[in-house]
Amino acid sequence: MASAYSALLLVFFFWIYEPVSPQQSRIELGSSLSTNIPPTSWRSPSRHFAFGFYRQGSGFIVGIWLASKPDATFTWTINRDVPHVSSNATLELTKKGKLLLRRHRNNATDEEIFIANFKGSASYAQMLDSGNFVLYNEHSEAIWESFSFPTDTILGGQNLYKGGELFSRASAIDLSTGRFHLKMQDDGNLVLYPVDTLDLPLDAYWSSDTYDNPGIHLILTGTGDLLLVNQTLHEIEHVSPSGSESNSTSIIYRATLEYDGIFRLYSHNFDGGAEYIISLMWHVPVIQCEVRRLCGFNSYCTMNDDDQPDCLCLPGTAYVDPNQRFHGCERDYNEGSCKHTNEMSSLYNITVMDQIAWDDNAYFQASMSEEGCRKSCLEDCNCAGALYESGNCKKQKYPVKYAWKTEDQLSKSFFKVALEIIQRTSKKAVVLILVMSLAFITWCLVALAISGLFIFKSRVIKGRMQTESGNFGLARELTLRAFSYRELKKATKGFKEELGKGSSGAVYKGTLYKGKKAIAVKRLEKVVSESEREFLAEMRSIGKTHHKNLVRLLGYCTEGSHRLLVYEYMSNGSLANLLFRNERIPDWSDRVKIALDIAKGILYLHEECEAPIIHCDIKPQNILMDNLWTAKISDFGLAKLLVPDQTRTLTIARGTPGYMAPEWTKISTPTSVKVDVYSYGVVLLEIVFCRRNMKINVSKPEEILLSKWAYELLVARELDRLDLGEDVDRQKLEKMVMIGIWCIQDEPGLRPSMKTVVMMLEGITDVSVPPHPTSASA
Ligand SMILES: *[C@@H]1O[C@H](CO)[C@@H](O)[C@H](O)[C@H]1NC(C)=O
Ligand SMILES: *[C@@H]1O[C@H](CO)[C@@H](O)[C@H](O)[C@H]1NC(C)=O
Ligand SMILES: *[C@@H]1O[C@H](CO)[C@@H](O)[C@H](O)[C@H]1NC(C)=O
Ligand SMILES: *[C@@H]1O[C@H](CO)[C@@H](O)[C@H](O)[C@H]1NC(C)=O
Ligand SMILES: *[C@@H]1O[C@H](CO)[C@@H](O)[C@H](O)[C@H]1NC(C)=O
Repeated sequence: MASAYSALLLVFFFWIYEPVSPQQSRIELGSSLSTNIPPTSWRSPSRHFAFGFYRQGSGFIVGIWLASKPDATFTWTINRDVPHVSSNATLELTKKGKLLLRRHRNNATDEEIFIANFKGSASYAQMLDSGNFVLYNEHSEAIWESFSFPTDTILGGQNLYKGGELFSRASAIDLSTGRFHLKMQDDGNLVLYPVDTLDLPLDAYWSSDTYDNPGIHLILTGTGDLLLVNQTLHEIEHVSPSGSESNSTSIIYRATLEYDGIFRLYSHNFDGGAEYIISLMWHVPVIQCEVRRLCGFNSYCTMNDDDQPDCLCLPGTAYVDPNQRFHGCERDYNEGSCKHTNEMSSLYNITVMDQIAWDDNAYFQASMSEEGCRKSCLEDCNCAGALYESGNCKKQKYPVKYAWKTEDQLSKSFFKVALEIIQRTSKKAVVLILVMSLAFITWCLVALAISGLFIFKSRVIKGRMQTESGNFGLARELTLRAFSYRELKKATKGFKEELGKGSSGAVYKGTLYKGKKAIAVKRLEKVVSESEREFLAEMRSIGKTHHKNLVRLLGYCTEGSHRLLVYEYMSNGSLANLLFRNERIPDWSDRVKIALDIAKGILYLHEECEAPIIHCDIKPQNILMDNLWTAKISDFGLAKLLVPDQTRTLTIARGTPGYMAPEWTKISTPTSVKVDVYSYGVVLLEIVFCRRNMKINVSKPEEILLSKWAYELLVARELDRLDLGEDVDRQKLEKMVMIGIWCIQDEPGLRPSMKTVVMMLEGITDVSVPPHPTSASA
């Protein structure tokens, strides 16, 4: 083995150091290529490789490719993520020894891009037969080479050093960065991951299993062997099976991470002259469906009749885009309101699938019977699906990642599907309503004709239809209703009972459907935009939000200058009342739940709804409690409606002092979701301590501002000095305060995202000790 290996190494050295006669291929200073005049590329002596402009469509790709027939195979590209250069560009090895791409523009100065970054200046360049483009200094030492900056390919003789990565291209023809990468990790492991993950072991779909070898790196030898070697080039692991061991210069080896996530080793055999024969020598993973994220969320991979991978949606979901089946699937129903677990079985059912499994962290796991697992998922609002394997039930939240078809006959999975009535396929709902309305009209007419006892005026029938059609279950709540001003005036008995008054307007209590449904009607006062079209666009965007921690908008009225919003009624008042006006402060566990509910509501606004919404006015007065004491955020989506283009002065009028992030007072800071994180931090501290951020009648001056005082108590480890109404676990208390202080950092970049806040509150992520809130800006 050892001798075979030294032979191999010898061959390999021979191959790299094969002398190239300089006069053959020297590219001298001042040489240039142009898209307009041939030659458009510099060739290697063997003419197998070319560097320069390659025409694709109406533009040009700049890079290195295998120039021989049957077709060009790119092995390296410049600026792969910027659009192709259009015609009229030059590539020049300048007189000053720099490599420069220059785009000529008719009416402006030329755009210049330095392609190679290196100190000093080059004396000449060479396109080598290995596929390496090299710049040399006056001592003929290489000072820059394309082999050091691989894109998706390594060639024979090329290394992928520690920390190096190959990124797949986006598709067979699109050379920009795609969805997968191969990473030569510091620990010595060579691993394949999808790109948009944290590169955790769970995300990996292939590895060389050579961790514990820090410092080793990958090399593709001139004889087509992929080896992991240590610093002294001793082989640690043979990655691909032994190659042909042919040292013929007429074979070029190439290992590419392709757009489908598979790492393939090819040989290009030029024995036949100008045309090569390409052979696939090795690839990983062997099974295409093992590539993680080949199929998007909520779908799984299977081989179709043409032996190509295909993605199928899990039960209860439909393709995000039916023409892009690899992009995943989404729920085909709305989450709906999830208040009573005993309601769940009338809204949802469970579909059972055999031999579908997934790799993801379950949020709940316990041993139980199969029927128990089924029932447990059905009745759990959070459960999107459950995996049942040998007596173990693992529940999974939406979306389901990394699903695959397993050979394991005993594995069963359960997926929650919606019963007909709440299917989002609104066409069905519309048809249903139409059919039922028609039936109702027919019934009315028949009743009218037969009985003759009542005389219906057409107006009465119309009125009845409008209210009665509301009886068809949830369908009513899925669309926003346009109310007339008269209707709302009547529902609120002439705006009699005022529930509260906020910066955007007063809120009145009312009832609909003959007093059966309580509503809250908000009269917007400072509506800047008079345009009905803008108002309706905003209503539609708010109407699309559905989350259990957001107050539901039921409808609106836009009549003349009236602008009213109709919300579901929250029977337990605002969080401000609960925290600051109650004699008895809520239990610690309830407060923790409220904090998490609010965080989830904001997270939804920021990241999960169709168009992100920045609330701009998070405060306890805008958090309402429903009859089950679930906290719900109100007044979201109004920021845009009430102020034009988020102009600073007006936005300040919108926010509330004490909850407003410090960057509001600075000029030209763009509004970001981090302003809500700041306000949330203040609210969180208020929830923890059940007092207002600013309190005047306190015993000591340092207690006036809660956010400042809390930090001092935290670092002094004296938080338990406070009266919280009950004994609270010190660690839990410290954690909540630390999260709050992270959120109120002056520097927006230091504040966590709402996603991180939720993960910290749920204990999924650890919380570190925060710096002083104003330290970064001081
Ligand atoms: C290309 O750019 C040069 C320099 O700006 C200009 O003189 C020439 O006319 C351009 N050619 C084309 C075809 O646009
Ligand atoms: C240059 O020409 C392009 C179209 O050919 C035009 O879009 C652009 O505005 C022009 N720029 C200047 C500075 O005139
Ligand atoms: C590389 O491996 C060889 C053989 O296992 C060993 O003798 C050599 O010391 C190693 N080199 C380094 C730098 O670890
Ligand atoms: C490599 O090539 C040289 C000449 O090109 C030849 O003499 C030698 O036998 C070859 N070695 C192998 C292992 O094929
Ligand atoms: C739920 O699905 C099962 C079959 O999986 C079926 O037997 C049952 O009738 C369904 N229940 C409802 C309420 O549709």
